Amino acid sequence: MFNDLPELGEFPAAWKRKHLLGLEDLTREELLILLDKAQVFRDAFDQGRRKFSILPGHTSVTLFFENSTRTRTSFSLAAQRLGASCVAFAASTSSLSKGESIVDTAKNLEAMGCESMVVRHSTPGIPKLLSENVHCSIINAGDGAHEHPTQGLLDILTMRQRLGSLEGKTVGVVGDIAHSRVARSNVWGLKKLGANVIVCGPSTLVSPRWEEMGVEYSHSLDKILTRVDVLNMLRIQFERQYTSPFPSIREYSLLFGMDGDRLRRAKPDLLVIAPGPINRGVELTPEVADGPQSAILDQVSNGLAVRMAVLWLTDGARKLTNNE
Ligand code: NCD
Repeated sequence: MFNDLPELGEFPAAWKRKHLLGLEDLTREELLILLDKAQVFRDAFDQGRRKFSILPGHTSVTLFFENSTRTRTSFSLAAQRLGASCVAFAASTSSLSKGESIVDTAKNLEAMGCESMVVRHSTPGIPKLLSENVHCSIINAGDGAHEHPTQGLLDILTMRQRLGSLEGKTVGVVGDIAHSRVARSNVWGLKKLGANVIVCGPSTLVSPRWEEMGVEYSHSLDKILTRVDVLNMLRIQFERQYTSPFPSIREYSLLFGMDGDRLRRAKPDLLVIAPGPINRGVELTPEVADGPQSAILDQVSNGLAVRMAVLWLTDGARKLTNNE
């Protein structure tokens, strides 16, 4: 069917979602389909096979109401590499500033003909709202502190490539847990794959209520250091904070930053990842970020593969659901 990427196989019958709004709702089977198909794209990428004609005629629009480097670029590259076209909607110069609602904006964009919209917004639930009002596929590229499913997927894909099965492995997610959509998507995905998760950060940013999601919590990086197989080092989300959650950045990085000393006290094969953007000297020192145990740039390559898989799968389900 797909002559230029036969490894992709037939469209998986178990995949029926035309939207990707989060990892919370996915079954373990759906999560594995996404990861396995993303791996096919990653393997092709590593072999230098980067352009396919899998989604000809598909138009994807990126609607980003928050800044982005990796996510927006990789979604638009992913669309292009599948043979689709991609248009970037510029929120700051649009008619939203003239009072048009986001739902009307999305309906107007859809009226021009598009098969998918990739949405990032500071308000949780906006992708879901749009999914209830348009016919095209809606892909959540981050909604407030709620979810960032493709980031969760690329983090998990990177862990799986390095560690094999994640069953019984322990992943520490460190930093501004309270304001992080990456933390939530990591937790939902990792729990489905049988990993243990410890969320770790200052008491102002890590609530004991995380136990209700089936994870452990800790306020000491030093205490969890020898137990974890992976550390996911999150950025402090100043843009979502209204009060200062700790006395100074210097104190934060002394207690929760990953440096060479902590690396030497951790398990010898500890894997360090970070969603980016990284603030060198805050969450990670350059020694850690650029060292052999860091997979930060590899995550970015996996991000492209994940987004290709997401566009392909949601497109297939949309055609079936909409009888196209
Ligand atoms: C994350 C995001 O935007 O939620 N970044 C990303 O998508 N690569 C995390 C962050 O901004 O710190």
